[in-house]
Amino acid sequence: MLLQDIIAAKRDGQTLSREAIRHFVMAIADDSAGNEQIGAFAMATYLNGMSLDETVALTEATRDSGSRLDYRSLDLPGPVLDKHSTGGVGDPVSLILGPWLAACGAHVPMISGRGLGHTGGTLDKLEAIGGYNVTPERATFERLLKDVGVVIVGQSGDLAPADKRLYAVRDVTATVSSLPLIVASILGKKLAENLDGLVMDVKIGNGAFLESDAHTRQLASTIADVARQAGTPTTALLTDMNQTLAESAGNAIEVHECLAILRGERRDSRLLQLTRRLAVETLLVGGIAKDRETAAARLDACLANGQVAERFERMVAGLGGPSDLLSQAPAHLVGAPVVRDVFAQQPGVVSAQDVKAIGMAVVALGGGRRRAGDAIDHRVGIDQIAGIGQAVDDHRPVARIHAASDDNAQRVAAQLRDAFTVADQAPALPLVHDTLPDPSLAGDLR
Ligand code: URA
Repeated sequence: MLLQDIIAAKRDGQTLSREAIRHFVMAIADDSAGNEQIGAFAMATYLNGMSLDETVALTEATRDSGSRLDYRSLDLPGPVLDKHSTGGVGDPVSLILGPWLAACGAHVPMISGRGLGHTGGTLDKLEAIGGYNVTPERATFERLLKDVGVVIVGQSGDLAPADKRLYAVRDVTATVSSLPLIVASILGKKLAENLDGLVMDVKIGNGAFLESDAHTRQLASTIADVARQAGTPTTALLTDMNQTLAESAGNAIEVHECLAILRGERRDSRLLQLTRRLAVETLLVGGIAKDRETAAARLDACLANGQVAERFERMVAGLGGPSDLLSQAPAHLVGAPVVRDVFAQQPGVVSAQDVKAIGMAVVALGGGRRRAGDAIDHRVGIDQIAGIGQAVDDHRPVARIHAASDDNAQRVAAQLRDAFTVADQAPALPLVHDTLPDPSLAGDLR
């Protein structure tokens, strides 16, 4: 099968066979396809799309292009579960969700990514913790997965290698925002974790990865359909990104907010509410709970008795971080030298946030990346972010900047102020716009 024939078929709007797709993806992985061929394939797919069956084939071939995680030798007593998010701002859900699921009997091999553009990345947040190693030896990974139940690390080179090449070419050929390519890229990596169940947190709103809400809804339903057809029970949620989820955005700063929740100091936050909702769906899809009430009761008990905090601390220590993070956070999370309030021009309530602009303010402070591979400053970011409906005036700022210097704080302050609209009243925003439960659970959930 010639690669150029496969490209021509897609260029001419034909449906590709499973074999043709697999052949092309393997050629990407073993370097026999040139970048120009990968670019042409990506553009033909961008312009002509793919059917559901083609997208499943592309996803499975991407998943199989490298090694898959294998837990047989570990004899795990519970299901292997994970959550994946399409990326948000002020969104450290994974740091709480992973240990929470582990405390409820799941095993969570969470392979996470770094922040790029306006969205943050779980690995960057964890690397704000002194000593945390996101690339442990395989033996350490397996021991933590079995004994602690959760291990959050980076992607090794041999996991879905075809995606790494294809994504790099998409990035420079204006083909990132192709639905089948996005789905195969996200799921190719996730399903290589060999999961018993997956929950997809698809962000919708002005801070989401895709700009159009209609496109985002289509992404959520396609991801759920493709993952199920590829054999992984999956529930997808469309969750709100018209405001930051946490009250902070940055790296060390978001870890602090998570620690406050784990220590039981915060029980009223949107971050905790959404994490709990995602955890309920994950316990259901993984068969740990039969219905939402049972799942929620189990989750609440684990959080209240400190087991979630304990799992988090054991994971951090097992990956080279401190063993006393919860009680000694300031010693292990370096803070920024300059802290400055940003006030609205007039008093009122916050009626809208430009979430992308808030994310880009973090980038401007040095806490995020414009290009993959850029160094970041884990200390900087924003906290006390006023949510939609929060009253602000000349005592209550719209947010507080943590910067490396006065100059940086000054430069970002106006940009950050403009990201908040202040009016007389605010709309009520849902936390979850829609849930697409795995069909095997439909009886319980409707
Ligand atoms: N995230 C990914 O991993 N791949 C994409 O294509 C888009 C978002």
